[in-house]
This record gives sequence, C-alpha cells and structure tokens, in this order.
Amino acid sequence: MEVLVIGSGGREHALVWKIAQSSKVSKIYCAPGNAGISQKAECVPIKAENIPELIRFAEEKEIGLTVVGPEVPLTKGIVDEFEKRNLRVFGPSKQASRLEGSKVFAKEIMLEAGVPTGKCEIFEDHNKATQYIKSQPVPIVVKADGLAAGKGVIVAKTKEEALEAVELIMGKRAFGKAGDRIMIEECLVGEEASILAFCDGENFISMVTSQDHKAIHDGDKGSNTGGMGAYSPAPVINEHMMETISLQVFQPIMNKMKEKGMPYKGVLYAGLMITESGLKVLEFNARFGDPETQVILPRLKTDLIDIMESCIDGKLNETNIEWENEAAVCVVIASGGYPGNYKKGELITGIKEAEAIEDVIVFHAGTSLEGENILTFGGRVLGVTSLGANIEQAIDKAYGAVGKIHFNKMYFRNDIADKALKYL
Ligand code: AMP
Ligand code: GLY
Repeated sequence: MEVLVIGSGGREHALVWKIAQSSKVSKIYCAPGNAGISQKAECVPIKAENIPELIRFAEEKEIGLTVVGPEVPLTKGIVDEFEKRNLRVFGPSKQASRLEGSKVFAKEIMLEAGVPTGKCEIFEDHNKATQYIKSQPVPIVVKADGLAAGKGVIVAKTKEEALEAVELIMGKRAFGKAGDRIMIEECLVGEEASILAFCDGENFISMVTSQDHKAIHDGDKGSNTGGMGAYSPAPVINEHMMETISLQVFQPIMNKMKEKGMPYKGVLYAGLMITESGLKVLEFNARFGDPETQVILPRLKTDLIDIMESCIDGKLNETNIEWENEAAVCVVIASGGYPGNYKKGELITGIKEAEAIEDVIVFHAGTSLEGENILTFGGRVLGVTSLGANIEQAIDKAYGAVGKIHFNKMYFRNDIADKALKYL
C-alpha cells in the first residue's frame, strides 16, 4: 500500500523511517516533510493544516493509510473528514482529540473517570482569575485552555509571574481563542515521565516509557522548548508503576471516552508527574510526542503499520507488540537563539559521518535541501538518536555523533538522559 504521513518534524521523520521498514508499504508520501524525510518519502508541498488539499491528494493517489503527526489537524477534525470519504487514517476523531485540544475538557474527563490529577480552578473571567491567584500560595501553574504550540503553560514561581501569565493569556490574548478560558492548577513536585499508548477505541497497549527535556538549558534551566532531547526507557517508571498507570489512567480514560460516545483511537500520550503521594496526570496529547517518538520507534520491533491497522479496526487485543531491550537517547540540535529568534539557512555538515556510527540515526526536525546541501530551516534542526546496551552507552554514542555535526551557531544540551543515570 501507499502511505501518507502528515507533518514535517523529527517525529514525522521517525514515523517515515519506521514505516519504510514495513513489507506492506510500497511508497511513502509526506506532507510537507523535510530534507531528511525526502530520503525515504516523496515530500509533497501541502501544509499539515490544509485538510481539503490533503483529502484531494489522498483520493488522487489512492493512499491506503494516512498517519497524522501533529495535533492541529487532529483537533480540526482531519480524521472525521477522511473517514467520511472512506479514506483510512490513523488518529483520534475531532471530539476525542479534545483531550489535547482543551485542557478543561481533559480535566473534566479525568475527574469523571477518577484519574489522579492536580487540583485546579477554571476561569473565563480575567478579574476572578486575578483575585483567585492573590488568595493562593506560589508556585502555581497557569494554563491556557486551548492549543498554544507548547507555550500555553506557565509555572509561576511568584504571584507577579502568575498575574503576568493571566494577563498574557486573557488580557493580551497571546494565544488567541486558546485563552478564552484558563486553568489555574496546583504546582506538583516530582519527576516527570511520558507514557504513550496505542488505542483502538476500546483496548490499549502501552509503549515503552520515555522522557523528554523541555527546558532549553542544562539542568532544566531557561525557557521551555518543544523538547531538547529524550531517552527511553525512563527508569522512574518501574513495572509496578506501569501497571498502576494502566489501571489508574489509560483504562478509565478509554472507558470514559467510549461511554461518552467518543471512543479514543490512535496514540494517547499521558504526561505524568511522579509525586511523593503517587502519580498525577499533567496533560494528555492526542498523538505521538516529539522528540519522544525518536527514542520510542527505534525500539519497536513490530511492524508499525500492523499496529496502526489493528487500532483502526478495533483489533488491538489480537496484536502482540515487541520491543528491543536496548536503551535509546535523542539529542536535539537547535539553531542558536531558539526558542526565541534564530537564523535559518545555515549549512549543516557531518550528518553522513554521524550516521556512519553504528546504531546512530539522525532524524531531521527543521531542515531544507538546496541542491546537494542540507540547510537549517527551523528552531529544532536535528534529533541525533542512538541505541545502546544501556542508557550510558546510548548517551556516549549520541554525543559522539553530535560531535561530528556542525553548523553556524548550533546549540544542544549536554545533559540529555543524565537524569536516568541515578537509577543505574
Ligand atoms: P503541559 O503542557 O500541561 O504538560 O505542561 C508543560 C510542562 O509544564 C509540563 O511538562 C510540566 O513540566 C509543567 N507543568 C504542567 N502542569 C504542572 C503542574 N501542575 N505542576 C508542575 N508543573 C507542571
Ligand atoms: N514532547 C512533548 C510533546 O510532544 O508534546
């Protein structure tokens, strides 16, 4: 069959890389893709949000399966639109993807389903939110209800910061309609981990654990980014904890979504905080994580197309998913200045040399081709990923590969996956 992958980041490169290994796939298209993706897929210049054009393309090429990477087309209802036209597509429906698209909706579902999560209050009124903050202890967390490209959550250390966050979201409307409502949540303390699960509307199968690094600088300092690196497994989650997560998070959410007439199909990503009093859900995403996917899929032994098809057909309970025991580490190389302003168009060298190292894969996140040359084209540029017998070896290999790559003002964190070492 021919497959269409939607998106253009490191996550989509990892999806294309894994899908290309399937014996069922004769050709892959990616809309819009990037320079790295173009080595394995034909990139088509259609934006991920342009649903009518994507439908037209999928119909014209008789695409057998479309895989949606990012959240925006999901929350806009791309899956419903494809299904209406009998086009096979992997991802949650518009209603179901509200688990990511509205933090208030996600909170309501969690409370109804009895899923452990932080205490919060919801406000539509700027003044009431301001008054509430004045009455609360700090630190405190202010969240825009809707999608804000990962920037809608502010962990405020002082009341001033919290009030500024409310002003940014509700006053200045920095994230537009996403700021119609805000959630003010207690600040949870602990170690974070992500668990993703394949879901078929009724059943789910958890993937291996992973953890990303959101802050720009070493030691989790500085502003939040889309993710500066990731590792898998995340040893903060042991087998017992994994069972608890299935019982307390995934099973009740699957049941509740089905009961509400919006069965959840696709990948459900649970962002967790492991606190002293147990686990709490921070957020859901309705898709694969980026850069978590870059460390999860290299560990997947099973054909990803088989898994996706069984999710669509409600047959996950007949599917066996196998994983490599090896650990994976992904170090993101970003453009200097990211997550603020940065320059595009810098010449990248050394990717081939990095990839020549055994068990190293260089996923492209923001690159473009100019003739033979690969240029920077985004804030996050590359995700240098390696597999190793354990996390320590994977770290060494990944940084060895990073050392081969060069472009003007490149930036990366030096401590990716160090958090995992204390468990060894
Ligand atoms: P979210 O998009 O909700 O996952 O938030 C982004 C990041 O903000 C998370 O990965 C956490 O680091 C942090 N965060 C979110 N909610 C809380 C909370 N209630 N307490 C502490 N940190 C939080
Ligand atoms: N790495 C976090 C996310 O994909 O939202």
